[in-house]
Amino acid sequence: MTIIALVSNKGGAGKTTLTVNFATGLERYGRVAILDADPQRSSLQWRAMSARNNALPVFDAVAGLTFKARQQANHYDYLLIDCPPSVEAQQTQEALRLTNLALIPVQPSPLDLWATVYIEREVEAAREKNPDLKAMLVINQLEPRTRLSRIVRQGLNELGLPTADTAIRRRVAYRASALEGKSVHDLGSRGKDASEEILQLINEVIV
Ligand SMILES: Nc1ncnc2c1ncn2[C@@H]1O[C@H](COP(=O)(O)OP(=O)(O)O)[C@@H](O)[C@H]1O
Ligand SMILES: [Mg+2]
Repeated sequence: MTIIALVSNKGGAGKTTLTVNFATGLERYGRVAILDADPQRSSLQWRAMSARNNALPVFDAVAGLTFKARQQANHYDYLLIDCPPSVEAQQTQEALRLTNLALIPVQPSPLDLWATVYIEREVEAAREKNPDLKAMLVINQLEPRTRLSRIVRQGLNELGLPTADTAIRRRVAYRASALEGKSVHDLGSRGKDASEEILQLINEVIV
């Protein structure tokens, strides 16, 4: 069983978007569930809107995350944890101790990249209890071919955490799918490019 936590120190980074699309993409490799640990409960909201009869399970883990993760561990191959927008939150702290892999979505802006220093510290602190913890930045909402995105790419090597080669672009499909309670994998041709990049990310960091 593999646990993957989506972690960031701010709202709007893309935790929930990546959680639901990564989780849905992972279903082709095993049994998957989401633990929603964010008091805003957006993953649960997404699940409630979902029209798919067999949409993957989303559990409320705002309280008792560690207990709930252990409870589900035998039933799933992958557990995704959608964290609150702060590394100091109790839920994020618990998630970092539990998880095999922390994925940290960041927008390609210097301000967001500098802020990852705080996450790096928390990751290092969590490794005292969870020495095998892997952590990786994932660029989200990339607009390729812009000067900014080139500069950001160049600056990534100076950060203390590795960055996934696969970047997630800003695409309408991410918003449109959420609106319909779907994932980008369920949108047909409208979601094709988004679906492919999520599957590529899965292959890079998991499979
Ligand atoms: N790659 C993307 N392309 C387009 N819109 C995105 C993308 N990632 C996130 N969004 C949108 O940005 C907003 C914030 O994303 P969300 O996943 O809710 O962030 P978080 O959970 O970290 O607060 C949402 O409206 C979401 O639909
Ligand atoms: Mg969220």
